[in-house]
Amino acid sequence: MPASRALAARLAALFGQSGIVTHETSLGEAGEPLYDEEAALVANFSEKRRREFVAGRRCARRALADLGITDFPLLAGPDRAPLWPGAVVGSITHTEVGAGGYCGVAVAHRRLVAGLGVDAEPRQPLSPELWPRVLDAEEGRAALAAAEPGVWARLIFSAKEAVYKAIYPLCRRFLDFPDVHIQVLPRYGHFLAEFVGAARSIAPAGSLVGRFLADDELLIATVLLPASGSPLAQEGLSLHHVPC
Ligand SMILES: CC(C)(COP(=O)(O)OP(=O)(O)OC[C@H]1O[C@@H](n2cnc3c(N)ncnc32)[C@H](O)[C@@H]1OP(=O)(O)O)[C@@H](O)C(=O)NCCC(=O)NCCS
Repeated sequence: MPASRALAARLAALFGQSGIVTHETSLGEAGEPLYDEEAALVANFSEKRRREFVAGRRCARRALADLGITDFPLLAGPDRAPLWPGAVVGSITHTEVGAGGYCGVAVAHRRLVAGLGVDAEPRQPLSPELWPRVLDAEEGRAALAAAEPGVWARLIFSAKEAVYKAIYPLCRRFLDFPDVHIQVLPRYGHFLAEFVGAARSIAPAGSLVGRFLADDELLIATVLLPASGSPLAQEGLSLHHVPC
């Protein structure tokens, strides 16, 4: 696994495609204040949640500005999913890691990308009590065969969260951990996500392909669903069409 990277280069390395704008920051970095509408959302948040939310909005603001969108309060629906501008898809993640924490955001124009999911986790073993809830039998066997079983299990957890964040805004459908099966391809830094049981209708024709990064501090999983007909759909990285 690669050594630790500069804070602000991880998502860019993972997406590595023109048209996907990424911004990363630590959780404590000072920045512009929230819009009043955003501040109202966090009025009753704990200090930890407020710090995460503020960092996410700060990154999102910078990313949207790179797409030419300014003065846009990024609110959230009752399901917590961010309400991006109509022409944009995006995803936010934050996690307590190291001294300052980590926050990352990816955004893209909807004409290029139908869905984006990013999820960051500390490079720490997934608690053994969570294995039965998060992993199916095959995922569990793969984790046990890995050099660091707990970290592998955490990576599967992160991959499922990234799949959920990419799919939910498209399909408005809750997915639980057993609804998605992950196969990690460590040599390539990729994973395959296959929908299981009733969730198979989301992608009857095949698997999504995600990318991951593991350094000495963080695990980050990403999913990109190209918009049908977009140049990214030619790269064979993921499904071209997600019928929800
Ligand atoms: C939504 C969820 C995935 C967030 O993951 P997390 O590890 O708690 O936190 P992260 O920091 O990585 O991500 C949080 C951000 O995700 C985004 N988010 C929350 N709900 C979302 C949703 N339904 N769809 C897309 N993005 C969502 C928000 O931007 C949130 O940050 P914010 O509230 O500050 O804006 C998780 O809390 C959850 O509800 N999981 C249950 C569903 C699931 O994971 N299924 C897996 C099987 S596929």
